[in-house]
Amino acid sequence: MTDTLTPVLTDNWDADRAWTLASYESRGGYGALKKALGMDQDAIIEAVKDSGLRGRGGAGFPTGMKWSFIPQANPNPKYLVVNADESEPGTCKDIPLMMASPHTLVEGVIISSYAIRANHAFIYVRGEVLHVVRRLQNAVREAFAAGHLGKDIHGSGYDLDLVVHAGAGAYICGEETALLDSLEGRRGQPRLRPPFPAVAGLYASPTVINNVESIASVPSIIERGADWFASLGTEKSKGYVIYSLSGHVKKPGQYEAPLGITLRELIDLGGGMREGRQLKFWTPGGSSTPLLTDEHLDVPLDYEAVGAAGSMLGTRALQIFDETTCVVRAVLRWTEFYKHESCGKCTPCREGTWWLVQTLARLEQGQGSEADLDLLLDQCDNILGRAFCALGDGATSPITSSIQYFRDEFIAHLAQGGCPFDPAASTAFA
Ligand code: NAI
Repeated sequence: MTDTLTPVLTDNWDADRAWTLASYESRGGYGALKKALGMDQDAIIEAVKDSGLRGRGGAGFPTGMKWSFIPQANPNPKYLVVNADESEPGTCKDIPLMMASPHTLVEGVIISSYAIRANHAFIYVRGEVLHVVRRLQNAVREAFAAGHLGKDIHGSGYDLDLVVHAGAGAYICGEETALLDSLEGRRGQPRLRPPFPAVAGLYASPTVINNVESIASVPSIIERGADWFASLGTEKSKGYVIYSLSGHVKKPGQYEAPLGITLRELIDLGGGMREGRQLKFWTPGGSSTPLLTDEHLDVPLDYEAVGAAGSMLGTRALQIFDETTCVVRAVLRWTEFYKHESCGKCTPCREGTWWLVQTLARLEQGQGSEADLDLLLDQCDNILGRAFCALGDGATSPITSSIQYFRDEFIAHLAQGGCPFDPAASTAFA
């Protein structure tokens, strides 16, 4: 089974002081940068396009295509911004990557900035993870000292300044335009798109914003070739990714494997379900993607197949719940999170998530009526597609999908006048 794993980004996480420049270089680190600096910039963009790399932040937009949208004739500076504001519940891949191997990201930033002709790059890190900020700052300092960053990098004539910026801990700042407002020093709230950041982003200048894992994948594409990358994965979902496996499995953690692996295979890699338990439901890409059940254990984890199964691959945050978990309670917890994190800019999300919590809490306590289920679906309907950004839409996904698959469980709460589950049996929401 281990031959399904493809350790690239996670390969050296256990090496001695893997995060240091010396350790990274001893494994061939910054070799891809030296190769890239000898390449034509458009050839790098073409290689990333040919590799089939799609954005690893959740949406899966083709990375090379995004880079090619940067209008090079625009006289304004071009910027690269790395979205390191990983906050989606269940998503835990960028933070361990930056802790274990920050130079993989820094090398990716330099190659990507060179390709899009940016001389300034930013890594916007989620505010709560101060240890990650410090580790990245140290890596950037080391890279400057070694001449990988700064003026005339390795005699190429190319200059790059890289700044690590800590946010203040708001989920909405992972939305790319809210991130830009926050980086510019304003309150982080989403901007209307279009214009997309590629045309008018940071300081109204052309800006590429990519997720940590997307940028960290670039050195491997330059080093091993676009064909190698494209040979992994499925027809339209190429390459390898990090899956965050959490919840009721024996060995939760990060598993790197090609796109298209199934949850059944990943659970086997994770040592199986915890003792004697059955899979009840799971999220393919964090809590803002519709829940799936044990019917979907053999769905290939790629954008197309997960979409056809009625959900979204998202950030590949596989949260696993066994039959001891109350789905109503789990969904209520997520909904409380979205209500708390709603930025308040638009009414459907600000007011709607508040109403969702009221209605769900009533049902969870067994105090509502069956009509509340229709009310809940109606509230979701009034948010979905009407909110300013994806936060509102995402908040409705666990609710509508849980009612689709577990309507009887909602009814059981009403019949019993409370939750029929033993909260002590489930470790997921203790
Ligand atoms: P999107 O599909 O609207 O955009 C994806 C990317 O493509 C963006 O960078 C956008 O600027 C670019 N793009 C799209 N159309 C374009 C065009 N015509 N011209 C130029 N650029 C274009 O998705 P969005 O709203 O940016 O992200 C939603 C995703 O974020 C969800 O799928 C969700 O999985 C994920 N997410 C991730 C979280 C995390 O912690 N990593 C947290 C919450 C959500």
